[in-house]
Amino acid sequence: MTTTNQILQGDCREKLKDVPANSISACITDPPYNYEFIGHKWDAAEIKRRTNRVQNSTTLVKNIPYGSGLAGGVRNTRWYERVRENILEYENWCHEWAQEVFRVCKPGAVIAAFNSTRTVAHLQVALERAGFYARDCLVYRRPSGIPKGLNLKAQLKQKGYANYQQWEGWHSCLRNEWEAIVVAQKPLQGNYLNTFLEHGVGLFYTANEDGSFQSNILENIPKDNGEHYKVHCTVKPLALMEKLVQMFVPPTREHIVLDPFAGSGTTLVAAKKLGRSYLGIEIVPEYLEIIQKRLDAVTEKPDMTPKNGQANHAIPYNLRLFD
Ligand SMILES: C[S@@+](CC[C@H](N)C(=O)[O-])C[C@H]1O[C@@H](n2cnc3c(N)ncnc32)[C@H](O)[C@@H]1O
Repeated sequence: MTTTNQILQGDCREKLKDVPANSISACITDPPYNYEFIGHKWDAAEIKRRTNRVQNSTTLVKNIPYGSGLAGGVRNTRWYERVRENILEYENWCHEWAQEVFRVCKPGAVIAAFNSTRTVAHLQVALERAGFYARDCLVYRRPSGIPKGLNLKAQLKQKGYANYQQWEGWHSCLRNEWEAIVVAQKPLQGNYLNTFLEHGVGLFYTANEDGSFQSNILENIPKDNGEHYKVHCTVKPLALMEKLVQMFVPPTREHIVLDPFAGSGTTLVAAKKLGRSYLGIEIVPEYLEIIQKRLDAVTEKPDMTPKNGQANHAIPYNLRLFD
């Protein structure tokens, strides 16, 4: 099957089975975070159950991590059990797709996967169970974040307590200002240099334009806009995905970047713009149109793969770029 510059529609756990082993240079992806987006949950049966449960609710805060408790309810043993069951179910679901991603990745290929601060540990464990080993956890520092929990002073005031003023500043959560990006790697072939010479991957591009060394905190990322923000509810900034592509994928079109949770296609757009190849998978058919539209609008960088006859063949293939 041709996997270069394709967008596949379907469940990535199935679609990945048709992708050849050891063919992908990096997986840069933003899977569902186990958030309680009504109608956008990762598990269709669970979406139905919760949609039915909350359809007449006027108080429920939608769009929150499952188990954060903002949807109300008493914290009894059953509540904690359900939260625990849910997160382990999420971890197992991550493990299912991670095993396929592991198989299709080249030795030394990196997976960079977004997650929330609450659930990232489970994603990392799922990736490790699939065979990857953890290399880092990047911070994507977002410009905003609204605290959505309980404000103690306001609650006490509402309930008529006289001393409510004393409880200014006490809250049930912190302002959520960052998202995690787990960076894990398929085991190397012997060592970094051998892996790089054999497969062209395994190392990180660390030279920033201002001369600094790339840090594991990504901040001051400019926002973009466009029609895709209206069609999809969890679009990542293009500049952020470009940064990750530059860091983890060598700059030629022979390298394929996989995004098994393509959404509106931001990873794929970044890859195409920066002269890498891409393979996207998305389960919701309606999103494919927006992905294609965005890809069609991209001006590609010229391919930097050395052409036959141009390179000095005494130099190993993956180093020829730097002749
Ligand atoms: C967080 S969004 C990705 C957004 C993307 N980063 C962007 O900038 O547009 C996750 C996407 O994964 C899709 N998805 C969920 N489960 C999937 C599955 N099993 N296989 C493929 N796609 C899936 C959802 O429909 C959603 O569009």
